Amino acid sequence: MTSRYQGIIHRYRQRLPVAPDGPVVTLGEGDTPLIELIHLPRRIGRDVRIFCKFEGLNPTGSFKDRGMTLAVTKALEAEARAIICASTGNTSAAAAAYAARAGIACFVLIPEGKIALGKLSQAMMHGAAVIQIRGNFDDGMRLVQEVAQDLPVTIVNSVNPYRLQGQKTASFEIIEALGGAPDYHALPVGNAGNITAHWIGYSEAAGKMTKACALCAGDCAYLAAPFADSRPVMLGYQAAGAAPFLRGAFVDHPDTVATAIRIGHPVSWEQAWTASKESGGWFAEVTDAEILEAQKLLAGTEGIFCEPASAASVAGLLKDLERNTIRPGATVVCTLTGHGLKDPDTAIAQSTPPVTVDAERKAIERIIRSHSES
Ligand code: F0G
Repeated sequence: MTSRYQGIIHRYRQRLPVAPDGPVVTLGEGDTPLIELIHLPRRIGRDVRIFCKFEGLNPTGSFKDRGMTLAVTKALEAEARAIICASTGNTSAAAAAYAARAGIACFVLIPEGKIALGKLSQAMMHGAAVIQIRGNFDDGMRLVQEVAQDLPVTIVNSVNPYRLQGQKTASFEIIEALGGAPDYHALPVGNAGNITAHWIGYSEAAGKMTKACALCAGDCAYLAAPFADSRPVMLGYQAAGAAPFLRGAFVDHPDTVATAIRIGHPVSWEQAWTASKESGGWFAEVTDAEILEAQKLLAGTEGIFCEPASAASVAGLLKDLERNTIRPGATVVCTLTGHGLKDPDTAIAQSTPPVTVDAERKAIERIIRSHSES
């Protein structure tokens, strides 16, 4: 009996659509920390407990790994030789890594000039065929669906239902860590797969049907052994320049500093609406300035470095707390979807630049003294 953690499929096999003993493509994803914010609630003077599920600590630095282990395991099961995705960066990084591990080919379509540097370097290092398109994510998504109809490539975007099945495991971990579901769960929303996946996970854990699940169609075996009494209210936060859920319609030219969620035509549109409505939740929007402020706040006061899109969950929550739409005394989980190192350019651009001095003791002392005086 080994206690070595071996990823979400190994951990939750009974609750996932996988063969009981088939081969698994894993990098040990999941089991990410749930970090309680200690400074922020005090600073804003609200009676609330805020936990951050730091998904940036997955093997490729984002929550996508949870979905990718399942999607690639199932692709191998079906004897696929190649996978394909459109991506704002993180999906391409995860797809490239898991394809490398599985020994199959990987094609990624990314919007030219609009993906963060860390993500691009990952897809390249893992040996994916990186195709930059003169268009945005939504164009890439359409193209991927078109070519997959005629060519032998398996789509690993979240239209692939196994992606959501893998991603639902984050809810299981949260319930286990808190001893029950939180009152609210806040997520950044782009293509809208993750909010859907979390709602599926919470619903299954509570033994409750959800119409958001494409696989279960009402007679789901996973509802049989509930381990939570309740489900959270789902809060979906979008960047104001890419907020189709706020507009009530697709957006053709999305734009935001949070390039990960620069999406105007989310593929899980219906499912995310269902998740939001069934949970009694809502969508709200945050500006780029609010996103970056929340990112800095998390990094500077809590020691947690997430990427801009991830900070939308905290930015949105802060706004809702201000509006008094969150019940006093509530427990809230914010998903921090990706690591800050993914996007060093945005981080550096908004930080105080380093000072440069001669390599002399006096120069260093002067700086330390002026700091302690200020
Ligand atoms: N946060 C990050 C860091 C992301 O990379 C994404 C999506 C989201 C949030 C939104 O999640 O799409 O499930 O609503 N990134 C995709 C990609 C689109 O290609 O990496 P969602």
